[in-house]
Amino acid sequence: MRLLVTGGCGFIGANYIHLVMREQPEDVIVNLDKLTYAGNPENMVDIEREFGGERYFFVQGDIGNVELVSHILRTHKIDAVVNFAAESHVDRSIDDCSPFIETNVVGTKNLLEASRKYGVDRFVHVSTDEVYGTLGEDGQFSEESPLAPNSPYSASKASSDMLCRAFFETHDFPVVITRCSNNYGPYQFPEKLIPLMYSKAKGGESLPVYGDGQNVRDWIYVADHCRGVDLALRKGRLGAVYNFGGAAEMKNIDVVKTILSALGKSEDLITYVKDRPGHDRRYAMNFDLAAKELGFAPSLNFAAGIQETIDWYEQNSAWLEGVESGAYRSFMNRWYGERS
Ligand code: NAD
Ligand code: TYD
Repeated sequence: MRLLVTGGCGFIGANYIHLVMREQPEDVIVNLDKLTYAGNPENMVDIEREFGGERYFFVQGDIGNVELVSHILRTHKIDAVVNFAAESHVDRSIDDCSPFIETNVVGTKNLLEASRKYGVDRFVHVSTDEVYGTLGEDGQFSEESPLAPNSPYSASKASSDMLCRAFFETHDFPVVITRCSNNYGPYQFPEKLIPLMYSKAKGGESLPVYGDGQNVRDWIYVADHCRGVDLALRKGRLGAVYNFGGAAEMKNIDVVKTILSALGKSEDLITYVKDRPGHDRRYAMNFDLAAKELGFAPSLNFAAGIQETIDWYEQNSAWLEGVESGAYRSFMNRWYGERS
């Protein structure tokens, strides 16, 4: 297949491209990424070196740019689109939701329009469990759960899901929607809980835990999510929504304590801070449909996944330093400068 992957320099998109390059030797990928603060071209440097110009092409640009997207679809004869591109951090959406509406809603609409006009065989839209809102002590989200987003981020993702659904119903456009729980693993930007806590613990800084630390997330190792997305691409039923989860519900405070313990650091570093406004209490995913129709199952439990993750961050301290110092922002110039 010839794929247009959007947001491939971000956390999950980068992991997805690595997976496809390794496991689908016939596939060609065009990675369209705007390189916002969350996009790091260094995540793709090994792929660029090995496959650049043959099976892998990078285009810096916006999913909302219809002309650019149309040009890519035509010139690369794209068969399918996998849309990871988004503004993805809840706290940023609380400070200013404008970029979330621009990219997640308007950008997705434009990407859908261009893809429909060109006529792709598949459009996989990568979404989140957060569109379902929050759970109490019991129960799980299923694909039938009502959408009840509580943050501007999740509201923008729910809007994009609805647009995808409408394009399927109205235009018979071949959409598959995936909704996944919280990811962790290599290349995650250190604003999200796990890499942030890792980084602060390493530096002996205090670890800010929101509220009472009892909020629950269902953690999935990023490679398992990527495998799910790829199954949805190759086997998913058109018009379907598939939930993915890690079957690994954890309270935030226990995640933080696990990281401290793995690094041999004291729990005295934990600092409870003011809660996030509109903070969802609990997420949990029922992914029976994906198991039945796609054969999806998470392969790593939390203990194994967090160890893999910590090992990766230990072995890639230069990556983390580059992100934290901001050096990654000038990487494009250095990379293309070196090669010219
Ligand atoms: P991320 O913030 O790490 O990466 C997003 C990428 O999209 C970046 O490379 C950024 O440069 C790019 N981008 C942003 N705006 C763009 C635009 N207008 N045009 C082109 N590229 C643009 O996000 P992530 O954690 O990798 O999440 C990827 C997708 O998965 C998102 O759609 C997110 O909603 C969804 N998701 C994330 C999680 C999670 O735990 N991180 C869980 C479920 C679903
Ligand atoms: P996050 O990684 O931002 O993902 P999401 O909000 O999409 O679930 O946060 C995961 C959980 O960790 C969430 O309940 C908020 C909490 N959290 C903290 O307690 N402290 C922090 O500094 C951050 C970033 C998150």
